Amino acid sequence: MLKESDVIIRPMIPEDIPAVMRIENSTNPTPWSEKIMHDCINVGFKCWSLLVNGEVMGYAIYVLSLHQCHLLNFRLDTALHGQGYGSFFLQHCLDETLKEGVAWMVLEVRPNNLAGQALYKKFGFTQISIKDKYYDDGGGVFEDALVYGLWIKKK
Ligand SMILES: CC(C)(COP(=O)(O)OP(=O)(O)OC[C@H]1O[C@@H](n2cnc3c(N)ncnc32)[C@H](O)[C@@H]1OP(=O)(O)O)[C@@H](O)C(=O)NCCC(=O)NCCS
Repeated sequence: MLKESDVIIRPMIPEDIPAVMRIENSTNPTPWSEKIMHDCINVGFKCWSLLVNGEVMGYAIYVLSLHQCHLLNFRLDTALHGQGYGSFFLQHCLDETLKEGVAWMVLEVRPNNLAGQALYKKFGFTQISIKDKYYDDGGGVFEDALVYGLWIKKK
C-alpha cells in the first residue's frame, strides 16, 4: 500500500525517460514514442515523475492553456496499481494546477479502462462528452474516448 514517506514527485527530467517508456509500453495500448516524451519536456508541458524509493514508477503529463488543464498522460507501473498511488499522484496534479490559477481539468479515458474511470470519478470528474474514434489502435481499428471534466476545488 501507499507509503507517502517513500514517494517523491518532481518534474520529469530526460534521464527519467527510459523508465517512463517502460511504463508507457506496458500500460498504453497505443504507446507514445520516446521522442514525444522528450518533446513534452522541451515544449514546457507540465511533466511530473513519481519516484518510489528513488525509482521512477509513474508519470503525469498535462498542458495548461488559458483556463484549462488537459491531462494527456497519467500512468503508474503495474506493480503499484490499486494501492493508492494513483490517488496521491492525481491529488498532486490537481493541487499544482490550482496553484497555476487553473481550475478546470479535462481528460480522455477509454470506455474499458475501469481503473482509470474509478480513479477520476473518485475525485469528482464527470463525463462531459464522447470523442468518436479518438484512439487509433492501428489496422483500421478505432475506439471512442470518454471525455471527463472536473472543476477543481481548493482542499
Ligand atoms: C489508472 C491508474 C493511474 C489508477 O491508479 P491506482 O494507483 O491503481 O489508483 P488507486 O489505487 O489510487 O485507486 C483509485 C480508486 O480507483 C479504484 N480502482 C483502482 N483500480 C480499479 C480497478 N481495476 N477497477 C475498479 N476500480 C479500481 C480504487 O478502488 C480507488 O477507489 P477507492 O479509493 O474509493 O477504493 C493506474 O491503474 C494505471 O496507471 N493504469 C494504467 C494507465 C492508465 O490507465 N492511466 C489512465 C489513462 S486515462
